Amino acid sequence: MSDKERLIVKKSGPLKGKVKISGAKNSALPILAASLLGTEEIIIEEVPNLTDVEIMISILKNLGAKVEYIDKSTLRIDSGNVNSFQPPFELMDKMRASFVVMGPLLSRFGSAVTKAPGGCNIGERPIDLHLKGFDALGAKTNIDFDEISAISENGLKGSNIYLDFPSVGATENLMMAATLAKGETIIENAAKEPEIVDLSNFLNKMGAKIKGAGTSSIIINGVEKLTGTTHTIVPDRIEAATYMLAAAITKGEVRVENVIASHIRPVIAKLIESGCIVKELEDDDVIIVKANKRLKGTSIKTLPYPGFPTDAQSQFMALMTVCEGESHVKETVFENRYMHVAELKKMGASIITEGNEAAIMGVEKLKGADVEATDLRAGAALILAGLVAEGETRISNVYHILRGYSDLIEKFKGLGANLEFKKIEK
Ligand code: UD1
Repeated sequence: MSDKERLIVKKSGPLKGKVKISGAKNSALPILAASLLGTEEIIIEEVPNLTDVEIMISILKNLGAKVEYIDKSTLRIDSGNVNSFQPPFELMDKMRASFVVMGPLLSRFGSAVTKAPGGCNIGERPIDLHLKGFDALGAKTNIDFDEISAISENGLKGSNIYLDFPSVGATENLMMAATLAKGETIIENAAKEPEIVDLSNFLNKMGAKIKGAGTSSIIINGVEKLTGTTHTIVPDRIEAATYMLAAAITKGEVRVENVIASHIRPVIAKLIESGCIVKELEDDDVIIVKANKRLKGTSIKTLPYPGFPTDAQSQFMALMTVCEGESHVKETVFENRYMHVAELKKMGASIITEGNEAAIMGVEKLKGADVEATDLRAGAALILAGLVAEGETRISNVYHILRGYSDLIEKFKGLGANLEFKKIEK
């Protein structure tokens, strides 16, 4: 996607119809990394069509894995011949989540050397918890400028690890590192996100011995080796939340398919509180979201799972900008996740921020503007705002959005949204 490409979003009527949610980006990335631990063929189904996934596939291939698509969303991976523990710096730089290859490489080869991770620009995003955990497992970690290494000459040893914060990436990295360590590892204050459970299920199918994923205490008993398996990626709860919010903001009616309602309880609760009708068809993994009037302002506070997801904060704020009355947001997971605020204000939103809190005074109308997708979910928020803004919204830095939304244009258009990519000649 070139710098000149814009996503043009025009005011669209109420979105109507159905949309099928893809496999979760945040599951696919660690699961692809985890495939480095196995020495036999692995099949992964429901792989989302995303640039972040492409980056991870390139990293695996670069390390010597055979990776090929069997169909549009199914991958065959064979890591039997992987012989490098040094993922290419230029690829690692493109995506923060690439750092989860560190745990599997360290576990399998006793050594991993990489670059400090890049990725979404939403705050400091340190990796201290990952490195402290590797140290606890007996590795020696070192940061030399932006090169990071972890080495364990005599193999990793199980240990008790307490995470100061339930970091998703650190929990995943340490869980993977511990699978081939000697003895028992206990990760306390572990992240409880559904993607952690998905990764644990995948690793257990490969022969790992992990208990407790989804709770704050994960116990891993090291095994000698991991084998092949077939696994289907869990549905993307944040993609689902985004389309639910698209229905709400446009006063439409959307049937969201392939969604697990229990994974997005806070989003459902807050939509209902705002005046939306949300119907769950549990047996079919379907949620129907309907809004037939202007919704009311509400408050959200982001928290680690099972709290309100930080990854849906900006999209929910887009809805709040046109709700009746005042809304409040408190962001507690990332320290710099309000970059969408300045962009929403360009569209006529009335928002005041102070530290990690934001007050939003609902306006009757937004207006189209030239705005920038400053990060992935901020970009999604601008699409939602653009769907109800008068005229045309022209979003730059669209590559951020394509990192996390599979078949974005097709899915939105299928619901009647008016949006397209356009080259800007200036
Ligand atoms: C993952 C998700 C991301 C989501 C985030 C929080 C993936 C690929 N990405 O990111 O979409 O927004 O969880 O739900 O799954 N922290 C430290 N030290 C560390 C690691 C993290 O202080 O070593 C802090 C971070 O700065 C941040 C907080 O912990 O404030 C949460 O980060 P973390 O849960 O690690 O997020 P990611 O795994 O990067």
